[in-house]
Parts: sequence; structure tokens; C-alpha cells
Amino acid sequence: MEETDKTTISREILLEIVRYGIMAPSGDNVQPWEFAIEKEGITLYINREADDSFFNTQQVASLIACGAAIQNMVYMAEVKGFEAKVALFPQGEGKKEVAHIQLTPADRSQNESIEKAMRERCTNRRMYATRPIPRETWQSMATTTEKEPDTLLLYNKEKAWRRPLAHAVYLADMVRVGRQDLHEYLMKILHFKPIPKGIREEDLPDEFRTGMPLKNLQAGLMGDIYMRSMRKWSVMRVARYFGAGLAMPLFGAMSVYLSGGIGMICVKSFTETNIVRAGSAIERVWCELTREGYALQPMAALPLLTLRTYLEGTSAFTPSHIKKLEKAKKIATRSLSIPDGFIPVFMFRAGQSAPITQRTYRKKTEQLLVSSGEI
Ligand SMILES: Cc1cc2nc3c(=O)[nH]c(=O)nc-3n(C[C@H](O)[C@H](O)[C@H](O)COP(=O)(O)O)c2cc1C
Repeated sequence: MEETDKTTISREILLEIVRYGIMAPSGDNVQPWEFAIEKEGITLYINREADDSFFNTQQVASLIACGAAIQNMVYMAEVKGFEAKVALFPQGEGKKEVAHIQLTPADRSQNESIEKAMRERCTNRRMYATRPIPRETWQSMATTTEKEPDTLLLYNKEKAWRRPLAHAVYLADMVRVGRQDLHEYLMKILHFKPIPKGIREEDLPDEFRTGMPLKNLQAGLMGDIYMRSMRKWSVMRVARYFGAGLAMPLFGAMSVYLSGGIGMICVKSFTETNIVRAGSAIERVWCELTREGYALQPMAALPLLTLRTYLEGTSAFTPSHIKKLEKAKKIATRSLSIPDGFIPVFMFRAGQSAPITQRTYRKKTEQLLVSSGEI
């Protein structure tokens, strides 16, 4: 256990906790957050301008990311020997301040093995082994999720889950690849330029610190060539006409087949607080699965696109896209036994896999610090 000074919290410890917050996942690695360090804690602010994608309906993706960052900071505070008390939206929902985390010295440090899991956690888009995630593992993830009020983890319990869920993912992905705005957004956040070889992380140019390197998609040489050739929407549109636009939805469906299981995190009602809580639950599940040697990939199209129709109506979709989304939602609701009234916000696949060969990077801590005037 680490020695902690019982009266003050050093700036180094606070910065270390923030550094782990920044390691959290965010949609397309946009990192929609800022941090202020204070004498007795840390405040997390959402950057509501960071993600203007069609997926980020009412800031859902960014709020999930903030919840994940909060969870990492709570874990790290515990590792460092502090108890972390989290107040969500102290100024009210819709404001910039998402959480204030107050730290008080605890008798002993906890969660040392989770520190490694936070560093190792990543999005793994490879194909996984088909060996099912054991029921006990799912149950323990569900218990972890329910520690956050009003959140629920559903997972495949039925024997024949692969085919219907692969179909649901395929339908949602068909909508995703059929939208010019989502296509252009994906191409904007991908780095087609290679990461400079042999460079130290601290010297990495800022342009690589958000978004995702092409190789992070783990799509192989053919996948890389496909993505490069489809960069322009005009090319993609023609390709779709000849059926080549089906490649990505088919890849998505196959990745459901080649996985050990599918999970869906739902909230009981749509409030910003609940979405942040869901984000914290997701990060706990993700870190615990990592600790147990499992890989995870979010599959956001289905929950986020259907959530958009739920919150804002269907006017932003074509009739054929509405039909596909309705069908996808119906299949997911039935296959995962989502109870009436619960709102799906985050879907993922999990399983055993080889490690990824290219990770994502983060902004430097100092780029994300705002002054609180206190420390
Ligand atoms: C709300 C949310 C939605 C995401 N959606 C997807 C997705 O649909 N497909 C995918 O492959 N990754 C998805 N991701 C993973 C991010 O792209 C990933 O977290 C980010 O690029 C950082 O990489 P890392 O997780 O390896 O640290 C999502 C992450 C979050 C938090």
C-alpha cells in the first residue's frame, strides 16, 4: 500500500488520477472532457462541442464517455488510498459541470489490479473466439452494473442468439453506411496517415491525439484498402449501388458470430444523470472483462440510432431506414429480453481474442486542464 499524506492531496496524485480519467473510452476517441484539480478533489466538465456526430444525440455518447472517465478516476483514487465521493451535476443537468469528485484519505488502498486493467482496456475490433462467456461472468457483470441506480445489463441468455443479433447489427449498420453524414464523420476522424515510426508518445503531433489510426480498426490489409478507396461519399454511393457498400454491415454481422457474447446496457429513464451512470457501469464492466482476459468492442449504431428515433422522432431518417431500425430494435429487444420501459444505450460484443496491434492516443493532461483557481 502507498503512503498517503493525511492532510493534503499532492498535485502529482491529482494529476495521476486525471491521467487515468483521460484513458477512458469515448466515441471515436473525441475525449469530450475537461478537468479542474482542486485542494480536495477533481471536477469533470463535459465539452459539448467535442462530438457533433449524428450518433451523439442529446450528448449521449459524450455523457457515456464522461461516466467512464469518472469511474476511472474513482478507481485510481482508491488505488492511491483515497475514498472518492461523486456528486453528479451539482449545478443541474444540461450544465458543463458533470461531476465533482471529493477525495478523503482512506485507511488502505484498493483495487490495485484494476490499475493494470485500466491501462490495458481497449477497443478490440478483431474477430473473437466463439467460446461463450460463462454465465457466472455475465452475472457478475450484471451485478457490477446494477451498483449504478437505474441501470441494467442484459446479455444473451438464449441458445440461438448469434443469428438474430447478427441480423440486428447488420440492419443498424446498413443505416449507418447509408448516411452521408455518418460516413463523412467516420472518414474525418480516421487517420489515414501512418503514425510517425519510433516516435515517443510525448512527442506525438496533436493531430494523432484524438480520433483513430486506420490500423486501430484491425481490418487487415484488404480492410485498409477498402476504407481508403471508400473515403469519398461519391465513391461509397456508387459502391453501394453495386453492392460493395454491404462490406461493412457484413463485417459487423460476422463479428457478432465470431464473439463470445453480446451485452446491452440500458437505463430506466432518459436523464443526463442516468446516462453518466451508464457510462460508469460500462467502464466497470469493460475493466473487469479486461482483467479476466476478455476483449470488448462497442457496437453503438443500433442503440444510438434507435435512441435518436425515440428522443427526436423519425424525421431525420428515410422510410427504409426507419423500417430497418424498427426491425433491429425489435430483434434486440426479444433476443436480449429487454424489459418494457428500459432504454438501450450501449451495446457491445465480448470474447477471447488476440491483442490489438495499434492503439489510440490521448491528448496531454495539460491540454485538458482548466484552472479552478484553487491549486
Ligand atoms: C459511447 C461510445 C460509443 C462507441 N461506439 C463504437 C462503435 O460503434 N464501434 C466501435 O468499434 N467502437 C466504438 N467505440 C469505441 C471508441 O472508438 C474507442 O473507445 C476510442 O476510439 C478510444 O479507443 P480505446 O477504447 O481503444 O481506448 C465507442 C466508444 C464509446 C464510449
